[in-house]
Amino acid sequence: MPTHPLVEQFQRAGQGQVFAFFDQLPAEGQSRLLEQAGEIDLAEVDRLVRTLVAKDASAGVDLKGLEPAPYEPLPDRGGDAKAWAQAKTEGEEVLRMGRVAVFTVAGGQGTRLGYDGPKGTFPVTPLKQKPLFQVFAEKIRAAGVRYGRPLHWFIMTSHHNHEATQAFFVENRFFGLDEKRVHFFRQGRMPAVDFAGKILLESKDSIALSPDGHGGSLRALERSGALELMAKEGIDLISYFQVDNPLVRCVDPAFLGWHRVRGSEMSSKMVTKAYPEEKLGHFCQQNGKQVVVEYSDLPMAMQQETDANGKLRYIGGSIAIHVLDREFVRKMSAAGALPFHRAEKKIPVIDSAGNPVKPEKANGVKFELFVFDALPFAKNPVVIETRREDDFSPVKNAEGVDSPKTSRDDQLRQFARWLKANGAAVSVDATGLPSAVIEVSPLFGSDEDSFADAWGKRSPKPAVVHGLYLV
Ligand code: UTP
Repeated sequence: MPTHPLVEQFQRAGQGQVFAFFDQLPAEGQSRLLEQAGEIDLAEVDRLVRTLVAKDASAGVDLKGLEPAPYEPLPDRGGDAKAWAQAKTEGEEVLRMGRVAVFTVAGGQGTRLGYDGPKGTFPVTPLKQKPLFQVFAEKIRAAGVRYGRPLHWFIMTSHHNHEATQAFFVENRFFGLDEKRVHFFRQGRMPAVDFAGKILLESKDSIALSPDGHGGSLRALERSGALELMAKEGIDLISYFQVDNPLVRCVDPAFLGWHRVRGSEMSSKMVTKAYPEEKLGHFCQQNGKQVVVEYSDLPMAMQQETDANGKLRYIGGSIAIHVLDREFVRKMSAAGALPFHRAEKKIPVIDSAGNPVKPEKANGVKFELFVFDALPFAKNPVVIETRREDDFSPVKNAEGVDSPKTSRDDQLRQFARWLKANGAAVSVDATGLPSAVIEVSPLFGSDEDSFADAWGKRSPKPAVVHGLYLV
């Protein structure tokens, strides 16, 4: 029987081991393996092995000329109140024109949370236990009503969670959204290699493939036809956020406005770091380009540096909330536009006899793309400050920091703050945490402004708030 052309290609590229068991496989297994192999760009893998895996591959990040990036502080923290107001007006305008789409990256594996299922299905709200996807869906619905134009929502899944994610939306009738405006697409996958650069097999008929990182979202937007659809719908701005953060303002007029006013191709929100060692990426600039340097790549001495006023110099923490121009995404979706990063991992494989092996220590390298690596290529990138309590309390870990408990408490604090700001009496502790469980549906209010509007119209209003669900 002639050798399959794909098998020959892999052999020529020195990756023939992928087909070591091919002849023993039933037809179904053979086609599965061929299909997976067909997804792999061998030239790309070869380049990554040479640059990221080979012994003399350069390691570490070049810190020469690195400085903190400038940012737009909030009005009450020294920012220009007039410019913020103008940005908000501009943002409201593009929303009314229907030029904005919402985009959630939900292809991660969620290993730290240890939850069995797509992370977006994880229940997060304090009273109703609404899942993350429902929180976003309701915020998006509310914004559609507020600005008179329902928004399109794009959700990037992984091969692993795609079907379960779609089924969840169907079961829940898209949480009241028009299903024609909710779009799911899978992100790409990358093969893992051993330290000699050989592509690993997970089983005889399956390659060790894993999601290509949140940066893979840019090429997946293009490949899936999402950018095309946006162009047809007159959408040129993409509001990007991660699936694990229920506090995020999915649709934030001031943020969209800053992006527009500055003629930016990619904009970001930052929070001031709570303490020097906090594990956030840092907004920096280098040779006139904006970059994000991960906490693991910025020496501790630099993370602790302070200015003449004793304020941290590298104070801008990245919370993975961006606005992107559609055409910028198209440019950055080209092969090789973003750099890959390497991560040494314990990768379940098979041995030369085909038996499964669960490694005790890292046995190979996975390749991932990061979305913030697009920043140095963006024209006029702007970073605006936000308050954590308005935008950021992710569910990353099962316990401790950034866990379901901390995120729930931050949601409770937010609801109490909104109520108090509008004159209701809510009993709270020193951290602002209310003593009773309250929840505000995004359909009632999803930020300070929309809450104040809805509360203003409510009659009668409870003078003292004990337990409450506002919808
Ligand atoms: P994280 O870096 O927190 O990774 O992803 P994770 O896979 O969700 O969780 P751990 O590290 O295994 O515990 C940040 C965001 O980027 C998305 C995730 O879904 C999350 O919204 N992401 C990450 C993707 O969409 N694809 C990826 O390949 C990686």
